[in-house]
Amino acid sequence: MTNPVETRQAAGHQKVHRVLHVNGEAQEVTFLPHHTLLEVLREDMGLTGTKHGCELGECGTCTVLLDGEPVLSCLVLALECDGREIKTIEGMGSAEGLHPLQVRFADLGAAQCGYCSPGFLLAAEALLEREDNPDRQTIKETLSGNLCRCTGYLKIYEAVEEAAAEMRGELAPGEGRAAQ
Ligand code: FES
Repeated sequence: MTNPVETRQAAGHQKVHRVLHVNGEAQEVTFLPHHTLLEVLREDMGLTGTKHGCELGECGTCTVLLDGEPVLSCLVLALECDGREIKTIEGMGSAEGLHPLQVRFADLGAAQCGYCSPGFLLAAEALLEREDNPDRQTIKETLSGNLCRCTGYLKIYEAVEEAAAEMRGELAPGEGRAAQ
């Protein structure tokens, strides 16, 4: 007689095939149905820019954008992302030019060891999509789920403020604290 528990366990080890929309491209991928979006991005799709931290939803280093909103990819099943738009750090900026946030993070020392930077950058990008001139408190609160052990956060907040100013046309590229 078939044991329903064993049947479910066996089904859990059978890979599923889906088309995931990542960084503007539809990509076919085969993965285990219980795998998180973080695991599928890194292990099945080779997108290792998304970093693996606590896997408990506490550090924010695995942040990606799902339909434009930051999510912790360690807490999202890849199966839940079927038909949704996923953006990882590999989709930020382009071969022709980095996003102003990326440039400001580099210029101001907001990226040091860099492990948390992809998560911060994507969370900050989503913020600047919603608000073109967020105040310091809003930036702090928005990024409060992302942990950084190197910078002390101040450089990150300044980089977001300068990128926002550049995107509003109030700072020229290269102009700002780093140039002083
Ligand atoms: Fe996802 Fe830490 S790895 S929050």
